Amino acid sequence: MGSELIYRGHDSQLATDSYSPKPIKPWFAVTQPIRYMLREQRLVFVLVGIAIATLFFTVIPTSYPASYGGARGHVAISDSLSYYPVETYQRAYNPRVGFGAVNSGGKIPLGLKRKGLRIVVTGGAGFVGSHLVDRLIARGDSVIVVDNFFTGRKENVMHHFGNPNFELIRHDVVEPLLLEVDQIYHLACPASPVHYKFNPVKTIKTNVVGTLNMLGLAKRVGARFLLTSTSEVYGDPLQHPQKETYWGNVNPIGVRSCYDEGKRTAETLTMDYHRGAGVEVRIARIFNTYGPRMCIDDGRVVSNFVAQALRKEPLTVYGDGKQTRSFQFVSDLVEGLMRLMEGEHVGPFNLGNPGEFTMLELAQVVQETIDPNAKIEFRPNTEDDPHKRKPDISRAKELLGWEPKVSLRKGLPKMVKDFRQRIFGDHKEGGAGATPDTTSSA
Ligand SMILES: NC(=O)c1ccc[n+]([C@@H]2O[C@H](COP(=O)([O-])OP(=O)(O)OC[C@H]3O[C@@H](n4cnc5c(N)ncnc54)[C@H](O)[C@@H]3O)[C@@H](O)[C@H]2O)c1
Repeated sequence: MGSELIYRGHDSQLATDSYSPKPIKPWFAVTQPIRYMLREQRLVFVLVGIAIATLFFTVIPTSYPASYGGARGHVAISDSLSYYPVETYQRAYNPRVGFGAVNSGGKIPLGLKRKGLRIVVTGGAGFVGSHLVDRLIARGDSVIVVDNFFTGRKENVMHHFGNPNFELIRHDVVEPLLLEVDQIYHLACPASPVHYKFNPVKTIKTNVVGTLNMLGLAKRVGARFLLTSTSEVYGDPLQHPQKETYWGNVNPIGVRSCYDEGKRTAETLTMDYHRGAGVEVRIARIFNTYGPRMCIDDGRVVSNFVAQALRKEPLTVYGDGKQTRSFQFVSDLVEGLMRLMEGEHVGPFNLGNPGEFTMLELAQVVQETIDPNAKIEFRPNTEDDPHKRKPDISRAKELLGWEPKVSLRKGLPKMVKDFRQRIFGDHKEGGAGATPDTTSSA
């Protein structure tokens, strides 16, 4: 049986060799090796194809058009992270929107409407956050406010209720949160000494765990992240005015450390996510800011003086009143934050008004604005209260084209009007929830 099979095989072979229905064409002879390779080396070709595709998809996304804010040109992500100074490092951000559309202002082709961004503002029901939300909504963006209402108030954002572009989530940033967004402005943190000293462990948790959670979110959804840090990272500065390059003089174990060191750690985390995970980040170091919607009685000097003068109480000056501070009106700060977010530079950037006032000079301006007969009362100074604070804003001027425009004498009356309405319940001109007039020029 076996030999029979072998025999038949030979037979058919012979038949094939002898039978040729058509003569072999010359082109067939030429393409035969290629056809053979295609047929026999299929696996090799599949692998080569995969390699080309991988190369294509890893190299192409790194060379973004300038309109995407791409200062990186053709540099691969890993290269740029290791070799480029952070400020020249720009990663293309979100193909859905493209930063160029936002950055460049005039770069959107005529007739094309700028696409709104989806933006989270943590701490958006607070003083600074609520003004930022107003500007973002006015610009046409969709805003999600995330706030635990520790120091924030619904009244600050109530005028947006019912607007489809506005959402409010009661949430503590110490707990993780997942949202699909393009940008994250991370402001959540009590800012006044009265509030941040109330529960110091919670304050440092908010700064560390809260920032970690928001950076994790930014990494996961590819959002750009902006941290609102503070001039407190300079501590009681030995350099005056303070430049961003100054590393500060901070007490790590004092009563203010939960805030100061918390913000310093938040900055560290932000830079580590940037360098290590390629997250697009921005850092603002905010100096004393004032304006409508500040917490009344929050212990911050401007709100203290204004509330005291309105209530006909003496203005309390701590220490000898010769310590200096700079005071920035909130609309200037919001403009700076937005420019920083849309711009190409990581920072940190000092955002503050370099105009320097002693506490006594400030008390005088408040007297002039509210009550010339208001008395001044001296009290012992608090621990670790810095003696001098004045921002050097040359970096923000040069790289963001930003500088404050509203002088203290122009800004203070707007805050006084808001405080008067809230303290005396005079809602005739619109309550605290209404959008106060924060547009002003110097
Ligand atoms: N206003 C200033 O002069 C100043 C100066 C330097 C830095 N900053 C920074 O700017 C940011 C905003 O300051 P502000 O003056 O608007 O303060 P604010 O207290 O008015 O606002 C902070 C907001 O964060 C919310 N918040 C606090 N902890 C939270 C948590 N764990 N989870 C969710 N929400 C939380 C509060 O409820 C509030 O709405 C803060 O990060 C602050 O450190 C402000």
